Amino acid sequence: MVLEASPPSCDANRSRDVGGIVLGIESTAHTFSIGWVDGLGVPGKSISAFVRPVKGGIHPREAADHHAERAGGILAQLLDEEVDINQVKAIAFSQGPGLGPCLRIGASVARSLATKLDVPLVGVNHCVAHIEVGRERCGCDDPVLLYASGGNTQVIARLDGRYRVLGETLDIGIGNMLDKFAREQGIPFPGGPKIEQLANQWLEDNPEASLEGLELPYAVQGMDLAFSGILNAALNLVEKGKPLEAVCWSLQEHAFAACVEVAERAMAHAGKSELLLGGGVACNERLRGMCDTMSKDRYSTSHVPIKPLCVDNGSMIATLGRLQLLWGEPTQLNDSGVRQDLRTDETPILWN
Ligand code: ATP
Ligand code: FE2
Repeated sequence: MVLEASPPSCDANRSRDVGGIVLGIESTAHTFSIGWVDGLGVPGKSISAFVRPVKGGIHPREAADHHAERAGGILAQLLDEEVDINQVKAIAFSQGPGLGPCLRIGASVARSLATKLDVPLVGVNHCVAHIEVGRERCGCDDPVLLYASGGNTQVIARLDGRYRVLGETLDIGIGNMLDKFAREQGIPFPGGPKIEQLANQWLEDNPEASLEGLELPYAVQGMDLAFSGILNAALNLVEKGKPLEAVCWSLQEHAFAACVEVAERAMAHAGKSELLLGGGVACNERLRGMCDTMSKDRYSTSHVPIKPLCVDNGSMIATLGRLQLLWGEPTQLNDSGVRQDLRTDETPILWN
């Protein structure tokens, strides 16, 4: 099943066929996923399994055990329902950043598959994959990127062959902040979607809702962001008896406004007229709406891929793997070790 998407951009990349399917294996944290793209980069469906801790955050070793248990079944299902194994031309995998034990499961599966099928192995940067799948699918060429996920919150622009981080969170990722707030309210991981639902409920019940009495700290520090203060203040509001729905709404308004403010400043400084959203938090309709409004005010455009391509998924890894294969070199086995602390700007971007 090939995923629907808006018209593609990046014509130079699209007119080049790698001559078969690229599989992509994602295993940086809570998700184990295998997806694919065809030779021209059109993504197929990813098959995924998620760790959902009942209590507390993700335990790296337990998540790795989960991934190891599910990997065989997911691969079998993908080959059964989606992909002809004889058409596979390369295996891409998330090389970093992420949790070491989780990354190592994906890397081992990728190495074994590439060796068995005798096809190239391509290690990719997970953060850059979130960017490239959006750029490939949304029809934008040189955007400022707002990458908002669980572990990362970065505002990025391309300069001199790298994605440069112009601003980022100084403490926790915005998605982690939402998940932590949710967990304290007994809402299981991932908390973001439930917070969105509760915030919508508040607005539906209170169409004239005001932020008075629901104020939270300012999260912008120059071009950077910080979410711990907002998290603690939101938890205090609930403790003081403010309705949970109201606090969820306020939390979204404050945290998203901060991200959009930094993104707008980046667009102004870098002279760019496209904004691209990526990462799991980019599934949020309110964040999408704020980005649209800000971009329209600047006579610019805002873009976001379909939701299955915003959250962690194997197809985005395959998307970047295909580009690296077209424009760079495959990864040799002795260079295929995982890199837990890989940064967005460490990966050379060789394509347009
Ligand atoms: P990364 O390694 O890139 O930081 P990640 O491991 O956090 O990625 P993603 O799938 O990119 O994984 O993002 C998951 C995050 O997205 C979770 O924090 C989740 O709460 C958040 N999220 C998902 N849907 C929504 C939504 N509708 N509104 C807000 N947040 C959301
Ligand atoms: Fe991610």
